[in-house]
Amino acid sequence: MATEVKSVLVEGTREDSVDKIVRHAGMLSNQLQNLRQRMYPPEASKSLRRFMTNEVSRLTSIPESSLRTMDLEGKGPSPSRLENNHRAYTLEQINELRHYFATQKPNEAKSFLPHRTGKEHLQVLAVANFKGGSAKTTTSVHLAHYLALQGYRVLAIDLDPQASMSAMFGAQPEFDVAENETVYAALRYDEYRRPIKDVIRKTYFDGLDLIPGNIEVMEFEHDTPRVLAARDRDQGAIFFERLNLAIREVEDDYDVVLLDTPPSLGYLTLGALYAATGLIITVHPAMLDVASMSQFLLMMGDLVGVIRDAGATMEKDFLHYLVTRHDINDQPQAQIVALLRHLFADDVIMPTAIQSTAIEAAGLGKRTIYELEAGEVSRATLKRARESMDDVNAAILALIQQSWGRT
Ligand SMILES: Nc1ncnc2c1ncn2[C@@H]1O[C@H](COP(=O)(O)OP(=O)(O)O)[C@@H](O)[C@H]1O
Ligand SMILES: [Mg+2]
Repeated sequence: MATEVKSVLVEGTREDSVDKIVRHAGMLSNQLQNLRQRMYPPEASKSLRRFMTNEVSRLTSIPESSLRTMDLEGKGPSPSRLENNHRAYTLEQINELRHYFATQKPNEAKSFLPHRTGKEHLQVLAVANFKGGSAKTTTSVHLAHYLALQGYRVLAIDLDPQASMSAMFGAQPEFDVAENETVYAALRYDEYRRPIKDVIRKTYFDGLDLIPGNIEVMEFEHDTPRVLAARDRDQGAIFFERLNLAIREVEDDYDVVLLDTPPSLGYLTLGALYAATGLIITVHPAMLDVASMSQFLLMMGDLVGVIRDAGATMEKDFLHYLVTRHDINDQPQAQIVALLRHLFADDVIMPTAIQSTAIEAAGLGKRTIYELEAGEVSRATLKRARESMDDVNAAILALIQQSWGRT
């Protein structure tokens, strides 16, 4: 006899386990919806804070004194003044300053305006792992913000139907992203396909653009096997080439493209692995997560092997592991980090993303620690989190620069 989940009586009828799951799902979903509304009302639109002279100087290597003099002489962008009379710049103005100095000092142009030039190729970075919660999205968004603040031109593409990255950018998948406005529009096989340019949107970060996701992205997983079965040659590029070809349409507009992948190894993730020039596999240093990553690597090896055998090249500039949500006081975690470094040596990025309440709190408000203002969490907590994220992102930027042949 089948075991029966203990039933309760609802208005005189017996509730079986299916009803119960449905009821629980409804309750939970309602509660979450309420919580979300309170934390982040749908009409909230995001904007980026302004930056003080000392921060601008650190980001651009323009001395504070030059910034002051320029403003007094009416050169370059004019910052707004705070109540305490301090100068405050928008990121747009910071980028204006970068252009200004690059033009004034052509010999040092690259130190002010770091855009890629000449033979330096577009970097497409995929952040992947099918373990949910390995901080793929957190890593992608922090890297996107970091690179934009450093003056790079960045395109972030949300490949996850759950669209948490889009939500972090203030594009709420339920409200702000309509039909045929996700990356799916640029990948689809039918006559509704759109040029990728049409689905790129500006964000409130100057220099950082977004292609949002929502549940529609799943369609690619449904279409692809049909097309493969039909072997319809009229439908253009094979599935794993489509994302790459779409990205190539806007190649000249960006230095770095960031791909936030879903926690699965579907056709779209394969397309991301194929398009990537660099791979970052995020891993939380816990036994279950590492076991899951091992599965991920085995499956990924099989699948990309198939792509390679189809004659495509799978050459990458790098494939690195990033330790995430790292509790540096946790002994078992320390052992796993040591194990990873022992096995994969330099392929494990040296800095780790520490577990931090500042990152968690920022995430709840759909922000990165680069957006938090002093006072929202304790100064020491914010400083530690910021340093950890800066170190991680600087290490990834170093890999990008290496692949450009800069030292
Ligand atoms: N370094 C960190 N410290 C604290 N919380 C983190 C950190 N990195 C990620 N998180 C939290 O862990 C959860 C999962 O992260 P997320 O980036 O969404 O993972 P994934 O995209 O791999 O599913 C989120 O709630 C996020 O805020
Ligand atoms: Mg995610």
